[in-house]
Amino acid sequence: MSTESASLKNHNTFALPVNAAHLVIAEQIEMMIKAWQKAQKRKEPFLVLGEGSNVLFLEDFAGTVMINKLEGIEAKEGQDTWHLHVSAGENWHHLVSYTLKCGMPGLENMALIPGLVGSAPIQNIGAYGIELQQVCEYVDLLNLTTGEIDRMDPQRCEFGYRESIFKHKFKEGFVIVAVGLRLNKQWSPLLNYGNLTKLDPQTVTPQQVFDAVCAMRRSKLPDPRITGNAGSFFKNPQVSAETAERMLAQYPSMPHYPQADGQVKLAAGWLIDQCSLKGHQIGGAAVNSLQALVLVNADNASSQDVVALAKHVRNTVAERFGIWLEPEVRFIGATGELDAVEVLS
Ligand code: FAD
Ligand code: EPU
Repeated sequence: MSTESASLKNHNTFALPVNAAHLVIAEQIEMMIKAWQKAQKRKEPFLVLGEGSNVLFLEDFAGTVMINKLEGIEAKEGQDTWHLHVSAGENWHHLVSYTLKCGMPGLENMALIPGLVGSAPIQNIGAYGIELQQVCEYVDLLNLTTGEIDRMDPQRCEFGYRESIFKHKFKEGFVIVAVGLRLNKQWSPLLNYGNLTKLDPQTVTPQQVFDAVCAMRRSKLPDPRITGNAGSFFKNPQVSAETAERMLAQYPSMPHYPQADGQVKLAAGWLIDQCSLKGHQIGGAAVNSLQALVLVNADNASSQDVVALAKHVRNTVAERFGIWLEPEVRFIGATGELDAVEVLS
């Protein structure tokens, strides 16, 4: 389906009132290639979108927005593992629930993450002690210019914390069309985060982990169907061991997570909270009062309200702690993605 000048309000979870010059709902790979060729001919920008749960539109998009609707889940039983081939337009949480129901656990810690399966590798989604890279077997990447599909193994995806090669080398002219997942038949629970530590590893079931994750998320993350938001607005910053030690001397209860490379990850939500910014509002945009890392569309916010609030949060945290937060959310201008740090500087 293809539409001229369409509203993107229902296609971004911030629910910002922006439009696209053209909107294409692509159910097949051929439609994706055609939409790309048409945009190339018109010399117009082109943006692939999933559920819009990790984007901030700064203004109307002056080209084609293509929504990925490729569907299908195939499961194959191996000796020790389940192999899943999932089309990129499947909803992530639906996949988590489906695999659990079919007796293929392993994704339950990532329950309720909004968005599509095809978007999951882009920032290597993660929650409650697991990241996509731990279960990813391959990513199928369509080259829109040649029509070829390249099956990429996880090493080639260059996964990191909220990072992958899809944010860089393969950002323009490529679409993720399917993801392969590998789930161990021998399930072992991951119970090292938050309330999950209260569960008994000997008796706990995958369903109980799923329920606990959903309950934790619902207790602090606003539901985008009710209050517009894009999850964590900033990434958790990583600092040197010396910086972390210095800060811990001053704030002994500061949450901190030592990393394998010697760096220490800090909690951006805690830093923002310490600046007493919970509930702080600029125009219609506000810092969520349950989880300070989430910026919300509290009252008919404009894109400019969200940007002004993000700037204020970033500057306040930098003044107090000397740490410059970097957005996790992708900033989209009229002709494509912009450097989010530059927009906020
Ligand atoms: P979109 O926002 O539509 O797109 C994201 C980016 O990927 C855009 O730049 C887009 O151009 C590009 N893109 C989309 N699809 C494709 C494709 N098929 N091929 C190539 N490029 C593409 N994230 C976490 O990691 N962990 C969490 O716990 C988490 N919790 C969240 C909670 C809430 C309430 C919300 C609103 C968001 C949360 N997020 C979380 C962020 C978000 O859910 C993920 O980033 C998700 O993967 C985005 O999926 P999407 O389909 O909405 O992507
Ligand atoms: N905290 C505060 N005040 C706040 C918010 C957090 O003190 O307002 C403290 C918490 O008490 C906790 C620590 O900060 O000690 C971390 O908070 P939380 O467990 O809520 O996790 P987070 O670091 O804020 C990250 C991810 C989430 C993911 C959760 C669970 C990032 C940027 N965010 O949040 O992912 O769901 O861990 O694993 O890494 C997203 O990416 O959009 C997202 C929601």
